[in-house]
Amino acid sequence: MTSKALMLRHVKAPIIAAPMFIVSTPELVVNQCRAGIIGSFPALNARNEKKESTLDDWLVKIKSRLNNEDIECPLYAVNQIVHKSNDRLMQDMETIVKHEVPIVITSLGAKEEINDAVHCYGGVVLHDVTNNKHAKKAYEKGADGLIAVAAGAGGHAGSLSPFALIQEIREWFDGPLALSGAISNGKSVAAAITMGADFAYIGSPFIATTDANASDDYKKMVIDSTSEDIVNTNMFTGIHGNYLGKSIENAGMKISDVIANKDSKNSSDVFSSNNDKPKPWSKIYGCGQGISNVKYVQDTVFMVNRMINEYNETISNLSPPTLNSDLANKILKAAEKAALDANWKVAICIVDPAGVPLCFTRLNGAFPASAELAKNKAKTAALFRKPTLDLENAVNGIRPALLAAGHTVLGGGEPIFIDEYCVGAIGVSGVLPTEDAEVALKGIAGI
Ligand SMILES: Cc1cc2nc3c(=O)[nH]c(=O)nc-3n(C[C@H](O)[C@H](O)[C@H](O)COP(=O)(O)O)c2cc1C
Repeated sequence: MTSKALMLRHVKAPIIAAPMFIVSTPELVVNQCRAGIIGSFPALNARNEKKESTLDDWLVKIKSRLNNEDIECPLYAVNQIVHKSNDRLMQDMETIVKHEVPIVITSLGAKEEINDAVHCYGGVVLHDVTNNKHAKKAYEKGADGLIAVAAGAGGHAGSLSPFALIQEIREWFDGPLALSGAISNGKSVAAAITMGADFAYIGSPFIATTDANASDDYKKMVIDSTSEDIVNTNMFTGIHGNYLGKSIENAGMKISDVIANKDSKNSSDVFSSNNDKPKPWSKIYGCGQGISNVKYVQDTVFMVNRMINEYNETISNLSPPTLNSDLANKILKAAEKAALDANWKVAICIVDPAGVPLCFTRLNGAFPASAELAKNKAKTAALFRKPTLDLENAVNGIRPALLAAGHTVLGGGEPIFIDEYCVGAIGVSGVLPTEDAEVALKGIAGI
């Protein structure tokens, strides 16, 4: 099974919860998985006061809970920052290999040896990129899947439109592809999938959950903010990221100064000395643009369920309606009642849009030949998307050549439409063509 199929098989909706420095906790990961999506956390979050790695403890806890509790999705991911500043990288890698973490998300650098280590035990590597060039590099180095971090994403964000980024990557890559950046409800998840991604990758909304390791002040700020309150700058970490403007103000800086210097890694224009420089993530709060629909602090499972329901509703509205067996039988019953009321002995058949029968009845006293005729009239109406009485009239009038098509051009077949979609047809045979058609139409009126 491909890594994409494996991941999609386990989720209730195509969503990966994004790892967030400081914010992601084991409880958050377990509840994301409980609700049916892939949970994740940065390895660097697992640390004690002495800043030593406690990744082994976290993984023991998470795995035991995923194995023993009522969990919809058993897949979770650990994020590794593959950057020279991460002096725990190889130590944490050993722990990841020991626990055979199913998915590893690499960011800020792609390394073959990391990918090889994950592949050795059958794990999947997803690499986080902000442009097509880095996507190609990551793939060449052995990443199985890509995360397109587009404009508006929380934390270290990209600057490209999601439409452009997904289109460019999809030109050459058909593996697992997640899209991130301001996705915060089921409709946006559906948009990401329609655009060509396999997964939506969602971070910021989870800051305002009961399981997030974020202060009340941070959660309230997420709730009170909209996209206009998000400031993009590389001033705090040297890499462009999105932050809550209010936290910048609370740290004693003017947003206008930060915006004026937003592309400068040198923050001395804004801070009087380097000691005054507020710590990103703990004092300067990271957050993406898609938070205006986050109105209160929510239970994680509740938030994910809401997104899944919205996604399913959106997708079902996008797909054309179909004639299921319940509906087909309802039409059959209504037609049968109309025939019995008129004392007409007929056969009735309901077919799908390809003319294949869904249900059939032959009333007492109907001619044996009417059974086959009812089925063929229904098939003809379904394939022509037209009442067969119209076809019969055409044959009798200006289009006798229609007969050569080999269909049953006798009145009594009626196409069934829901909105503008032909979902099937009904065929009735046993009385006059106009009477057969009347029974068919009364059947359709039953829905
Ligand atoms: C507070 C915060 C911390 C983040 N920390 C990390 C991190 O440690 N590693 C990482 O790869 N991405 C990190 N990200 C980025 C997310 O994984 C993800 O790309 C982003 O949240 C998606 O955009 P969204 O927030 O608009 O949903 C962080 C994002 C936020 C908001």
